Amino acid sequence: MIDFDRETQRTGSHSVKWDMMNELFGKNDLLPMWVADMDFAPPESVMTSLTKRLEQPPYGYTFVPPSTARTIADWLEKRHGFKTNASWYLYSIGVVPSIATAIRALTAPGDHILTMTPVYTPFFGMIEQNGRNVVTTQLIEQDGRYEIDWEDLSQKLSDVKMFLLCSPHNPSGRVWSSDELKKLSDLCAEHNVVLVSDEIHSDLIYRHARHVPTAKAAGDKHSHIITLVAPSKTFNLAGLQASAIICSDEEIREKIKEEQGRQGFFTLSTFGITAMEAAYSEGEKWLESLIDYLTGNLKLVRNTVSEMDQIDLMEPDSTYLLWLDARKTGLSDEEIKKKLVDEAGLALEPGDKYGKGGEGFIRMNIACPRSMVEEGLRRLQMVFK
Ligand SMILES: Cc1ncc(COP(=O)(O)O)c(C=O)c1O
Repeated sequence: MIDFDRETQRTGSHSVKWDMMNELFGKNDLLPMWVADMDFAPPESVMTSLTKRLEQPPYGYTFVPPSTARTIADWLEKRHGFKTNASWYLYSIGVVPSIATAIRALTAPGDHILTMTPVYTPFFGMIEQNGRNVVTTQLIEQDGRYEIDWEDLSQKLSDVKMFLLCSPHNPSGRVWSSDELKKLSDLCAEHNVVLVSDEIHSDLIYRHARHVPTAKAAGDKHSHIITLVAPSKTFNLAGLQASAIICSDEEIREKIKEEQGRQGFFTLSTFGITAMEAAYSEGEKWLESLIDYLTGNLKLVRNTVSEMDQIDLMEPDSTYLLWLDARKTGLSDEEIKKKLVDEAGLALEPGDKYGKGGEGFIRMNIACPRSMVEEGLRRLQMVFK
């Protein structure tokens, strides 16, 4: 039995979520329910493996052994029915760095890159900071769910080199269906567009839904797809910085490898490799318990919010990030943030950060002990009806 109710002490650990609030919210004594990591210890098996490695100093250069690709491949096949070949794997210290590397390797300065908004903020930064242009297509809200604007998307694909997909979708938790993914993949192939599929949230799926890797949904035509996965969200290992880039096309892999070479990237950290293997090979039971616990937290939010006039929940299929619709308050994002910080003492991310369509929403992280979710909701109710 895993005790997700137990509070962890994170202040003073250089935690971005707990120790960096001042930078973003102007105060430190807030209840932090923002940045996407969890207030839970990772699986015991991961900590045991790390301790074992810690007790075998020194911590010199460590290569990623062939067993790592096999471990991730086994996980992807077992959890998502996605068959990958060990030769398709490259590694990276994070999914955001992988996006930057793919952009630099496969597009040129001035090229256009498409993404669907609202979306995880660093997508914009990685495109712009690398001198490429962001092209967006806005997701359409239909019956409380995001749908793809196919007409707009198809039109825009004709003028871009790359498409950045967030699957499942952060911030709404929407899981894209196999049909939607197949259509996206076919459209990208038709327009000669590289499809980068960020699947970092793909293991955190609620019981009613099923994640399909884009490259699996694509069927035989998947050589233009780059899949990005990591154990960081699933097992709460973001600080260990280990992730994988999966692509069946040798030419694309070579270009990515060359770009990594130009950046001087050679291998992952000793502890990142250890934790990644331990998590994927021994963390499944823990993950199942985590999903149950998150389902309980989600239910609590759903019940509370259903009694509030000003806040609606966009029902998620996945992730511990909830997309709360606060548009009925009639307030701007700045006003919402100010109210949350100054009156409720809550550090939550305002929706306009996520691009067009995100305005008036709030993103709430519920990967914390239930007592904290209860407190967060109490504070939310203090400022919104
Ligand atoms: C969609 C998405 N991609 C990437 C990341 C970050 O990945 P990494 O820490 O591996 O760079 C996050 C973190 O919140 C995310 O939500």
